[in-house]
This record gives sequence, structure tokens and C-alpha cells, in this order.
Amino acid sequence: ENAKPRILSLDGPAGSGKSTVAGIIARRLGCLHADSGAIYRSLTYACMQLLGEQASPEEFGRVFLEQTPDPHGFALRVDYDNGKQLHYLNEEELGLKIRTPSVTARIRYIADHAQYRNRVNELLRELGAKTALIVDGRDIGTVVFPDTPFKFYLDAAVRTRAERRRKELIESGMEAPSLEELEKQIADRDEQDRNRKIGALQIPPGAILIDTSNIDRDMVVSGILAHLQEQF
Ligand code: DC
Repeated sequence: ENAKPRILSLDGPAGSGKSTVAGIIARRLGCLHADSGAIYRSLTYACMQLLGEQASPEEFGRVFLEQTPDPHGFALRVDYDNGKQLHYLNEEELGLKIRTPSVTARIRYIADHAQYRNRVNELLRELGAKTALIVDGRDIGTVVFPDTPFKFYLDAAVRTRAERRRKELIESGMEAPSLEELEKQIADRDEQDRNRKIGALQIPPGAILIDTSNIDRDMVVSGILAHLQEQF
């Protein structure tokens, strides 16, 4: 039992700062950061490439059924380099292509599907059986790794999250909508993420809750590390 790799789950809504915090903690603790949202994004992108942008949610669902059993689907491969998660479609690294608004708008076609979710969950569990992980997402502490003793949940006000997203978009050279528009998008995504029939965003029982509205990233990181008390 002692040899079982450790898992730290970090759940929360869009823009709560999970990914950034998970990345820093993974580096500090010398383990991998698995970004489950990015895996959903890369699956969505792969489907869009196969089907075209105008495809219906039903067509997205059907792609899964029509693929032969390739473990990760559509020659999509998730790999890690220097602790960074990379996504390859037919050997092309996707980079920021998985973060465009048109991908974000279609994620629910994938994330609402039990079969896609099971595939992502299996991939994460296979990885977690081999190595220590910091995993961020929506259902990590509830569905994917319910037995881990290391669970955290980050939250923040919608306005704060919209401001962060805007800054991120600007910094990565993408077009940034107005704050009002971003608030609306974030509230919509919260609604979808909280009301999904399976894998919905929830505070996992036993998770440590951190509201990041008024504290900076470094305080969140040191708060989590303090909770772990070197037990991880
Ligand atoms: O973390 P993110 O914003 O990149 O995630 C994008 C979407 O992926 C999110 O709105 C819902 C979906 N997702 C999910 O359904 N389950 C997860 N564990 C992570 C993400």
C-alpha cells in the first residue's frame, strides 16, 4: 500500500487558478501536473478537425463509437516533457490551439459524454498508477480519484475569474473579449460544469476549500503546501 503513488486533486470552476497553482505545486514536489481540462480540450479539438466546426453535438458523440479501440482516440496522444503536459494529434503538438474560444464553446459536446469521460478518467488513472500526480479539473476528487486523502477545491468570484482570464488571453497574444462578456462566458460555463449529469463540478467531501478572490497565487500555493505538512 505504501508504494502506491500519491495523488493530489485540485478541483474548481474555470478561472479559479487551479492550473497555475497545480503547475507550481507539481514543480515544488517534483511530480507531474495532469491538466484534465486540457485533455478534454484536445479531444474536442481532435473531433473538430475530424468533423468540421459546424458538426452537431450528436456527431461529436458518434465519433467515439465509430473509432476502433485506440486507447486514447484519433491518434491523440498525451505526453509529458519536463513536467509539462503536451497534446499531439497525428504527431503535431497542439499548443494553444486547444485554448481558442471555438474549442471552449464545444467542450460540452465531449464532456457531457460518459464514454469520453471514462476514457479521460482511465488515462488519468493509468498515469496515477505509475507516478505521483497533481491533477486539476472538475471531478477529480469526486469521480477520478475519490480515495485520495489529498483533496483541494479552489473558488473565486466571477468578476475575479473574468479579470484573470482576460489577463491570460492578452498575455498569450489572443483576442480578449470585454470583462462583461468574459463574466457572461464564465457564468455560462459554471452553469454547464455544475449541472453536468456525470462528472459535475462539486466540492469533494473532505476537500480543503480555498477562496482565491482576494489572495494571490503564492499564498494559495503556500496554503496548500502548509496543509500537506510534508505528508504528500
Ligand atoms: O479547466 P478548463 O477550463 O481547461 O476545462 C475545460 C472544460 O473541460 C470545462 O469547462 C469542463 C471540462 N472538464 C470536465 O468536464 N472535467 C474535468 N475534470 C476537467 C474539465
